[in-house]
Amino acid sequence: MCGIVAALAREGNIGPEVISGLKTLEYRGYDSAGIAVMTDDGILVRRKMGKIRALESELAANGLPPSSQALAHTRWATHGVPADRNAHPHTDDNGKVVVVHNGIIENYAELRAELQQRGHQFRSDTDTEVLVNLIASNLRQSGSLHAAVRQALSQVHGAYAIVAMSECEPGRFVVARMDSPLVVGLGADGTYAASDMPALLHLTRDFLILENGETAVLELDHCQVYDPAGQPVDRVVTRCDWTPEQAEKGGYPHFMLKEIEEQPDVLARTAFDRFHDSEGDVDFEATFALDDAELRYFSRLRFMAMGTSLHSAMLGQMMLAELARLPGETLNASEFLYSPELKETDALTVIISQSGETADSLRAMREVKRRGGRVLGVCNVQGSTLAREADHLILTHCGPEVGVASTKAFFGQITALYLLAIRIGRARRVLAPSAGRQLLAALRGLRPKLDILFGAELKAAVEQAADYLASVNSCLFLGRGFNFPIALEGALKLKEISYIHAEGYPAGEMKHGPIALIDAQFPVIALATPGRTYEKMISNLQEVRAREGKVIALCAQGDERIAREADFLLQVPEVSELLQPLVNVIPLQQLSYQVALKLGRDIDQPRNLAKSVTVE
Ligand code: AGP
Repeated sequence: MCGIVAALAREGNIGPEVISGLKTLEYRGYDSAGIAVMTDDGILVRRKMGKIRALESELAANGLPPSSQALAHTRWATHGVPADRNAHPHTDDNGKVVVVHNGIIENYAELRAELQQRGHQFRSDTDTEVLVNLIASNLRQSGSLHAAVRQALSQVHGAYAIVAMSECEPGRFVVARMDSPLVVGLGADGTYAASDMPALLHLTRDFLILENGETAVLELDHCQVYDPAGQPVDRVVTRCDWTPEQAEKGGYPHFMLKEIEEQPDVLARTAFDRFHDSEGDVDFEATFALDDAELRYFSRLRFMAMGTSLHSAMLGQMMLAELARLPGETLNASEFLYSPELKETDALTVIISQSGETADSLRAMREVKRRGGRVLGVCNVQGSTLAREADHLILTHCGPEVGVASTKAFFGQITALYLLAIRIGRARRVLAPSAGRQLLAALRGLRPKLDILFGAELKAAVEQAADYLASVNSCLFLGRGFNFPIALEGALKLKEISYIHAEGYPAGEMKHGPIALIDAQFPVIALATPGRTYEKMISNLQEVRAREGKVIALCAQGDERIAREADFLLQVPEVSELLQPLVNVIPLQQLSYQVALKLGRDIDQPRNLAKSVTVE
């Protein structure tokens, strides 16, 4: 998705800081970049197709005058091909107003036709250029940029996060948001706006979060937020607890590798402040806002998410059934919108999203609430739309996840859902304090086991398997029970960063179709750690090898039975069946990383992908 960074500084040349902030948003995926600065001679715009370094070369070649007011953008194409002319920022015909925009203006075609009839000339194929000309046209009547922006936004349908500035009003930004995130940063040396907080952490840690339909006027040392009706509102400052270093690579070659290796720390960040050891229970923060009576009231749980978060949702459902004896279902959030309207009052819906901005998941949340249901959000970004609109909230506290391929956030989600299962099991009195204490002790004891996964032995085994896997065109990940969602996650990781086709399947399904694919060129990655499905997995491995299929097996350390059935072995520590997914997913993340590395892929920003899919 696109990235926005805007800054109004007390003094000095703010352009380099804005470009620096834009680089922290590269992970969101984009195809062009641009910057606009306010100068004594009016607004100057520089923009370039390609990566930010292409824009920096342009700036070095053609210069950019110093300015204390700048706004910049990375574009992920929706309307109009990636090209210089379609890159943001966009100005109106007369170059008096400039806008950057995330989102989609759905009725841009008719607005464009109306403006053309009034004599406007368009130089791009974008919906944003329609918006900026609408604003400029309104500005000539209204005399106020804020009024002109509000009037223009009353004429458009769609999702937007915008920053506008005009040479008629230097020293001022007008910002607005609808279904696309935007934050305002308040610093000692300036006032800022961005798509999300990491882009401004080098300038401030204090933020105002805009709600849907709100606008704001930013000036030096002041920001006034206005509600959808245009009335001033007071907004509490949110202090972001992330440090700029957490948002940086910290010496790693890729954010993804850094975030894979952060996972043992994520265990502590997500879990260890929430243990109520004496009672064998869990204490979530006040935002959870569900007491025992309410937790006993719900007769079922429904989980909804997209992508990797859908895989943790599947595990959440399994853990709630196991520990709280609570039936549940898991739905792809985008499918829920088309489901018949049924009774919602007996269910708690758990919406899981790392970014808290995934359009499909947000629409599902709003639909559940419209139907009278209650929503518990499990999210990694405080201040995100999910974090603010859910009735109840568990933050995973993983720190910023920058790599497009989700790793530590998935780990934090499973950890949080394990704690939730204990919390609900204890509230429903189906889990005794002693059982709760055992489950919490098992989680606390996981950390030294996880460290083994980053040792030389497994690293060598992963690299050997990756050498082979990098040579195939397609493969199958198989798992059963708690390992089935991990098989899906391993397949998603491999396909999204190496571009090798991979499917995740419940191992029991193999004979019902996928076995037709097995041959010497079609390998299987099988999760065969101890548990109630172990024996059946051995049969699967034998069926694959009987058809000359290669087997990469993930198994417990020293498991000779599996060793006899596999061509490549990823040996991991054995832990409880419920916690084994937290162990098993890490070698699969490492495997996909190594394969993508060998294939020279853009690991942190895989082609066509975005970190947060804020459009449906
Ligand atoms: C995961 O590696 C992908 N980047 C993608 O499937 C992602 O999990 C999905 O878009 C959901 O994102 P969210 O967790 O921020 O809602």
